[in-house]
Amino acid sequence: MPGHDGFRLHNDQGLGPTRPQLAERNPKQPIEAVQFGTGLLPLEHYELLAQSSGFQSQFVARYEQGPDVGDHRESDCDHQSDLTEWNGAFPERHFDDRQRYFLRGTDALQNHLQIRTDGTLRQTPALHHPGDQSRIPMRALPASFVLIGMGLSVPALAADKVELSVDVSKTGAKIDRNIFGQFAEHLGRGVYEGIWVGPDSKIPNTRGIRNDVVAALKALKVPNVRWPGGCFADEYHWRKGIDAQRTVTLNPNWGGVIEPNTFGTDEYMDFLNQIGSDAYVSVNVGSGTPQEAAEWLEYMTTAQPTTLAKERVANGHAAPYKVPYLGIGNESWDCGGNMTPDYYLSQMKTYSRFVRNFNPAQQDKQQMLKIAVGPGGDGPRWTEWTETVMKAYQHHTWSWDINGLSMHNYTVVKWPPSYASVGFGETEYSQILKSTLEMDGLIRKHSAIMDMYDPDKKVALVVDEWGGWYAPLPGSNPGFLVQQNSIRDAILAALNLNIFARHADRVRMANIAQMINVLQAMIMTDKEKMVLTPTYYVFKMYMPFQDATFVPVAFDAGTYTHGNISLPRVDAIAAKDANGKLWLEITNLDPNRAVEIEANLVGVTAKSAAGETLTAPKVDSVNSFDAPNTVVPNPVSAKVQSGKLALKLEPKSVTVVSVEQ
Ligand code: AHR
Repeated sequence: MPGHDGFRLHNDQGLGPTRPQLAERNPKQPIEAVQFGTGLLPLEHYELLAQSSGFQSQFVARYEQGPDVGDHRESDCDHQSDLTEWNGAFPERHFDDRQRYFLRGTDALQNHLQIRTDGTLRQTPALHHPGDQSRIPMRALPASFVLIGMGLSVPALAADKVELSVDVSKTGAKIDRNIFGQFAEHLGRGVYEGIWVGPDSKIPNTRGIRNDVVAALKALKVPNVRWPGGCFADEYHWRKGIDAQRTVTLNPNWGGVIEPNTFGTDEYMDFLNQIGSDAYVSVNVGSGTPQEAAEWLEYMTTAQPTTLAKERVANGHAAPYKVPYLGIGNESWDCGGNMTPDYYLSQMKTYSRFVRNFNPAQQDKQQMLKIAVGPGGDGPRWTEWTETVMKAYQHHTWSWDINGLSMHNYTVVKWPPSYASVGFGETEYSQILKSTLEMDGLIRKHSAIMDMYDPDKKVALVVDEWGGWYAPLPGSNPGFLVQQNSIRDAILAALNLNIFARHADRVRMANIAQMINVLQAMIMTDKEKMVLTPTYYVFKMYMPFQDATFVPVAFDAGTYTHGNISLPRVDAIAAKDANGKLWLEITNLDPNRAVEIEANLVGVTAKSAAGETLTAPKVDSVNSFDAPNTVVPNPVSAKVQSGKLALKLEPKSVTVVSVEQ
């Protein structure tokens, strides 16, 4: 957002003192052992070590083993001088490209790539001869398929076929349906026009809320909607948005436009009721008071005949509302008040203590979960924030508690957002997808800190703002954050949802930004017209994963390369739903080549499979009001034979199939 000046993910690569310290060593020496900082490595792990004798820098990537396998990459360039060497040695200047260098890099680097498992150093022949196919043989790394699938891929002529191995007997955590949450801020045409048209509008509506949007969202089973912001939340005063007479104010964060307050608490609750979703209310910590927030919760949740409850009843809502999720501030390190971690902590404790939920149905079971402000990047500033909140949580007393730590991470590449959302080519396609995959490292980094203070994972990591953030559409109000939504966004969404699913034990809630007409929206409207975006269809296709149980998928992703960007060619997750049905999602990132998938299904007697795929003619294909069906799901045929599932993925596609047993 405006004001994010240089501290976001891409400008802050964690080179500061809080990143794991690697052992000091002579860079000319072969790497035999590497020591990492404490608390960040599981007992079982693989390490991939790359050394180049031709350069002074040494590189290390490490990969964890387990159902949520992924990558965590660090370079051992401890000093700026090393970084300079590094940059001097390679054509790109993006330090965050480091994980790719040894993979697509020079022969010198590949010749020194070593793989060490469980303390035994060995060399991988395929990687020793860059001239040959240079793919790590799947059998050579039995527990590392997914590791490869999550980003370690080798520059080679990728095979036509990608093999997956799905073992249904090895299940992981529940994929909380709340990771499919959404975010509706008073911003641009998100709430006004997108949701609220008013009861007198010619656009068909129910009590002012447009019917077409409600029908589309209801079909998605949206688990929760975060409201009223965002930055807006820390300037929102709820009393101005209740009762018959609304106070007209301004929205200084987003274009300085009039805020009519016609969509307030009761309208939000009505909207949730119409679409069948839960409330995630962000209270004002920045410019409000604990008293104001406490009274808001009393207005919403008490069943007792207090003055505030009577006011709610007079506004037509006799029964108390349920508020399952409470956000205590938003980005308090920036637009939410530019607080230090310690200052926020003391504010948060006060809000946690006094902002109570009185709903009788939310006292024992279904208690309101409180979500504290968390990090917005991966550098020292953010690790310090996570550390401060989680350290305090470890010693929290009866008088305050939190159940979630928020994290915000947009795919933006650099601030201010300048990538076009439509009318771009393969270079921008691959750059954005590369950037979005950094979500995994960010989650790992903050989860590792959380693990130190909350090993039982009681506190969820709540990624309550994520998505692509591009340049405003030409001609639109820049404060309204209007952008198009293409097949690239569909793939971006799938990759992020897969990352969340792989971290399901810690990431139990997420909110895409935003729901309608703003940023990576589900829906776009123009007066009476409405169009569903490619991202909407991804969320629709992923519905079977809501509350399903994660099933690990092992695979060698192969590589999709464009220019100097190398990405995993495919990504995949699997899950078992409540009825025991197996679901698979497979994304083909490669915009040019189809891929044959052969999935070995273990622990299930598969009879048939069917599903849907979402693809498009071009990397920037969108659905417009005139052509709303350019990017829509189509049936995909899959064959099952001798326990193997075979299907072909179109280029740049997202596919979900279910397996009949
Ligand atoms: O989603 C737009 C803005 O991005 C939100 O208001 C803020 O929290 C974030 O910086």
